[in-house]
Amino acid sequence: MSVPEMHPASLDLEDRLPIRRLMGLAVFGEMLAARIYGLMAQLKPEHAPILRKFASMEGQHATWFREACRCNAIEPDKEFADHELDYLIAQVNDHFAAGDCEALAVVQGFIVESMAIAIYEPYLQVADRYPGTRDVFARALEEERYHVDWMTRYLRLRFFDAEDEFIRLCQRVNVQGIDCIGGTMMKIADYLDSIGLSGADCAGSMMDGYSELLERVGIPSKEATRNVVGLFMPLIRKYRHGETIK
Ligand SMILES: [Fe+2]
Ligand SMILES: [Fe+2]
Repeated sequence: MSVPEMHPASLDLEDRLPIRRLMGLAVFGEMLAARIYGLMAQLKPEHAPILRKFASMEGQHATWFREACRCNAIEPDKEFADHELDYLIAQVNDHFAAGDCEALAVVQGFIVESMAIAIYEPYLQVADRYPGTRDVFARALEEERYHVDWMTRYLRLRFFDAEDEFIRLCQRVNVQGIDCIGGTMMKIADYLDSIGLSGADCAGSMMDGYSELLERVGIPSKEATRNVVGLFMPLIRKYRHGETIK
């Protein structure tokens, strides 16, 4: 009986799995971001012009990334992204149905934007391996920071002198996504490791970024850290104890 020859193309596909999954999260995460800003615009007519502008910027990011993938023959892994983003999408639908724009602002400003920044920042170190991707990721990164600035200002004004209420909101929003975001970040960290980047750095930068955002909204730093540690416990365990992901 002859042993089937391994086709070089299938090896190539296997090697490309991490980058396909990262690009899947980038493209479909951007589409989710566009949707969240669109829903927020419907709930807050007074901020609709800027929120719609943000929605179209996010849509543009998705288009840039798709195009960059096409030029590098990378097929963004939609199935993986759908699986990772499903819980966020379900949460977003529930918050919108409840008319809860502040909860949407926390999901978008803190989870979705932080996740994007935590991926795009380290990605720039390897961007030159994939021609045409550096500029679009660098530009998207800059624009995500601008979105985060606006969102933190919005939340700071909305919860001025109501920090306890804001912390309760963050806890409510995070509790619903807590295992999932931790799990997704662990996978992202693994993919970054496998394309030669530091997953631990990425995880660290997401934790740092998140606690900084809480502080910018007016949460004392100790409280912010406690909130973030809860959210990222699975990641902390992974890097402290070398636990593997399923
Ligand atoms: Fe974006
Ligand atoms: Fe953004």
